[in-house]
Amino acid sequence: MEVNMHFTRKVTDDLTWVGVDDRRLACFEGVYGVPDGVSYNSYLLQDEFTVLFDTVDKAVYQTFFENVKFALQGRKLNYLVVSHMEPDHAYTIEALLSRYPETVIICNSKIETMLKQYFDVDFTDRLYIVKEGDTFSSGKHSFTFVMAPMVHWPEVMLTYDLTDKLLFSADAFGTFGALNGRLFADEGDFFGENLDEARRYYTNIVGKYGTQVQNVLKKAAGLELNYVCPLHGPVWRSHFGDFLEKYLQWSSYTPEEKSVCLAYASVYGHTENAANILAGKLVERGVKVRMFDTSVTPASYILANAFRCSHLVLAATTYNAGIFVTMENLIHDLVNHNLQNRKIAIMENGSWAAASGNLMKEAFAKQKGIEFIGDKISLKSALKEDQLGELEAVADLIAADICPAPVAAVAASVPAAGEKLPVDDGVFKNMTYGVEVLTTRVDGKDYGCIINTAGQVAASDPRKITISCIKKNHTCDMVAKAGKFNISILTEDAPYALFEQFGFQSGRDVDKFAGVSYDDRTLNGIRYIPQFTNAVLSCEVIDVRDLDTQTLYIANVVEAKVLSNGKSCTYAYYHAHIKPKKNPAPEQKEGYLCRVCGYFHEGSELPEDFTCPLCKHGPEEFEHIVPAVQKKVKGYVCTVCGHFEPCDGELPADYTCPLCHHGPDSFEPAEQ
Ligand code: FEO
Repeated sequence: MEVNMHFTRKVTDDLTWVGVDDRRLACFEGVYGVPDGVSYNSYLLQDEFTVLFDTVDKAVYQTFFENVKFALQGRKLNYLVVSHMEPDHAYTIEALLSRYPETVIICNSKIETMLKQYFDVDFTDRLYIVKEGDTFSSGKHSFTFVMAPMVHWPEVMLTYDLTDKLLFSADAFGTFGALNGRLFADEGDFFGENLDEARRYYTNIVGKYGTQVQNVLKKAAGLELNYVCPLHGPVWRSHFGDFLEKYLQWSSYTPEEKSVCLAYASVYGHTENAANILAGKLVERGVKVRMFDTSVTPASYILANAFRCSHLVLAATTYNAGIFVTMENLIHDLVNHNLQNRKIAIMENGSWAAASGNLMKEAFAKQKGIEFIGDKISLKSALKEDQLGELEAVADLIAADICPAPVAAVAASVPAAGEKLPVDDGVFKNMTYGVEVLTTRVDGKDYGCIINTAGQVAASDPRKITISCIKKNHTCDMVAKAGKFNISILTEDAPYALFEQFGFQSGRDVDKFAGVSYDDRTLNGIRYIPQFTNAVLSCEVIDVRDLDTQTLYIANVVEAKVLSNGKSCTYAYYHAHIKPKKNPAPEQKEGYLCRVCGYFHEGSELPEDFTCPLCKHGPEEFEHIVPAVQKKVKGYVCTVCGHFEPCDGELPADYTCPLCHHGPDSFEPAEQ
């Protein structure tokens, strides 16, 4: 029975999403709970030839076929591009081809092999085999193919639409969760609401294949991307760079944050109690803790958080002379998903022969970059008073790693006039042409902004530095009023969010410190940034120079301390590794792109007094973007199948179309 149940949405004028949400699936791949459902994405291109990109899972085939039929609007289906043979995308291929008997499958040779494995139908006459870099034209649109082995299976390939600069990314950049009508990531708060499920999807589905994902990201780095269309989750048409940044971290096994993922397995609550006490000690030291009971929280959620956090604490009781089963399963998952580059603290419990601690350590023996922190804590049935010191010691070590210089929340005492404060010379070794957070305080309010202008200018006592800041920045005015400021030197692990927090909003409109978990101040009472920094300098202004758009402050350094041994983030490092790659979409239009924050001002002219609404920089920081004129390529188009063959002269007499095998008679001159 067919009923009119189609639900489709346009990605572009020519491309329609014809996928289906599945909210009844209990476990994706039979193992990963999906309480928010999942979408199986498929896309139909209406061009001179019609092209369908992938199919869907068998659970939703009926709705899918109705969507395809509706989107085809009575036309034939000429081509099906198969990117991935996992049945959540390929199960319905046979049923689709029986409905559309003229459809040709475009795929690679590994997919051809898997088609034979999965189906008893011989598709040989209907296959068009492509390899890396091959091109295909459906009329207005031309495509090229990028092989992506092990993202997530060996046969996976991506397809790039050269015309719309659109990437069909297969499982890459997918997300758990039904779309619920929202096709584009920017139609909701993706980073607020969906990032956790995107992380759980990535880490559990392709987390094991970080190297292969990195290889594909390198290939994709050369592509201009207006749209990214994955097989699960929303389509990207803006802010893709922010998501790409997450992929770069996840695939290189780089923690997203300095924090602890604490997972425990406890039968009667004694191990849990010790884990709770340790969590409290960590939090008291300023450490963020994400805590899970392995008997309650499915491993896929804990694994995602293990990828997120820099440190792990694993606490498990001994059971059947081994590790308690839920922790054993979790560790099996962490190892099999190739978790690397983490520091792990271990706590075991055992009423007569504790063994889980050493077994947990041994399980990570072959993992790269795993370091154990502190001595193993070994409980005998229950934590005893005299073992609290062991918990304190582990908490101290982790806290020293994560927030190396915890200091009093507020200046402990106001220095007496003329009192000389400690100035650690090591601070000046951390000064580069870097990026810093400039902070000050006026009338009980705290201000801060990002600068890249701090530098030492005199080594005499007291040492002197200069900073300059844009006059339009509120913090610049506040430094003038306060006559003193702090400089926090940022390190290479500083997240882009910190730059957004201090750089892309104004202290006139918002409290930039609202919601931060720290309140660290130097003796002058001014805040500094305790994380992602390696030094703080407290300075008193001794001279001011007007530099037209900026104000130059010359200041004595009155207090300075090293906060960590993190590497200073240079201005170049920020641009190369922290700042998201600019959204290429504006390059379709003429305008001006801010080199500092990526803001795009559309139009052929930029007013002389223009100020970037995000970062307040002036016209000197803007790059004039003029869209490249598309150069037409001469050639011949096949009147049978639409294949375009670039050719500046005559087609050779023995030429045959690689798609439909027709000869030159079937070709006519064309330009693309
Ligand atoms: Fe969504 Fe690897 O399949």
